[in-house]
Amino acid sequence: MRALDSGDMVSHVESFPRYVAEAREAETPDPGKTDGVAVAGMGGSGIVGELLAALCRDVLDVPVVALHGPSLPRFVGPGYLFISVSYSGNTEETLSAHRGAVERGCRTLAVTSGGRLVKEERDHLCRVPRGLPPRAALPHLLAPLVGIANHLGADLDLRGASRSLGDPRERAYEIATGIGEEVPLVYGYGPLAPAAYRWKCQVNENAKRHAFWNYFPELDHNEAEAWDGEGFAPVVLRTEDGDMEERVDATLEAALPRERVHQATFEGGLSGVLSAVHLGDWVSLYMAGMRGVDPTPVPKIERVKGLLG
Ligand code: PA5
Repeated sequence: MRALDSGDMVSHVESFPRYVAEAREAETPDPGKTDGVAVAGMGGSGIVGELLAALCRDVLDVPVVALHGPSLPRFVGPGYLFISVSYSGNTEETLSAHRGAVERGCRTLAVTSGGRLVKEERDHLCRVPRGLPPRAALPHLLAPLVGIANHLGADLDLRGASRSLGDPRERAYEIATGIGEEVPLVYGYGPLAPAAYRWKCQVNENAKRHAFWNYFPELDHNEAEAWDGEGFAPVVLRTEDGDMEERVDATLEAALPRERVHQATFEGGLSGVLSAVHLGDWVSLYMAGMRGVDPTPVPKIERVKGLLG
């Protein structure tokens, strides 16, 4: 796997627990009273907004929304804290959203390693370490958002989460070989839903393969009906004792071929989410290795950016 790995993605994924432990959440400003938090970002940067929104859903009184595009929904106004996350600091959609937020009078915070976003941010800048592929910087990009959420009353423990991250390589290898040539369909729920989305994106970018994701209970009302088991490999990310366990078991009983489903069980909360992300990152690297592709370069993504930039 390492022989193909020009950008050292394997070392970055290996370092994920350390990155979580080192990521700095404490330096974020206290936003005080706020109507809501909007987090704009694309791809490997944007995923942290989805993770934050899911983690805050049941603990904060204000809405936290993740945005993936250049325009702002109408409800984002001067009472909002607007967080722009772009690892490079040069992603057009995120820059446009950021400018829109400034125009609407939002307080802003930019999370980036450099680029134009540094020059454009007027309120508060959180710099993350340079030189990583954006998707490998998830802990660094997430940490300032965790800091904001904790100022607003969440109790997300990044240090504690870093201590609970094990080494999931063996399980990841089993899952990757089990998926083989099939198309993974990754399912989650609650905060494990954006983790399922992260799996899909990592398989796309690292292994250069298709993957799809969905979440309970919604998938029980559509996708469950499509199952005939041909060409697809279901992966279910679940917790030990969540409200959804009975439903997941019923789905495995009624619709999915239980013996072909790859399951992975996690704790609840931030620890479980980061463990799920870490496992998926390894699965995507093993899938890249099995396909003989270099995980780091994303030439098509770069080409699209180049054509539009
Ligand atoms: O993983 C990647 O390289 C992409 O998904 C990027 O994160 C995405 O294109 C956005 O770029 P940036 O993270 O620099 O804003």
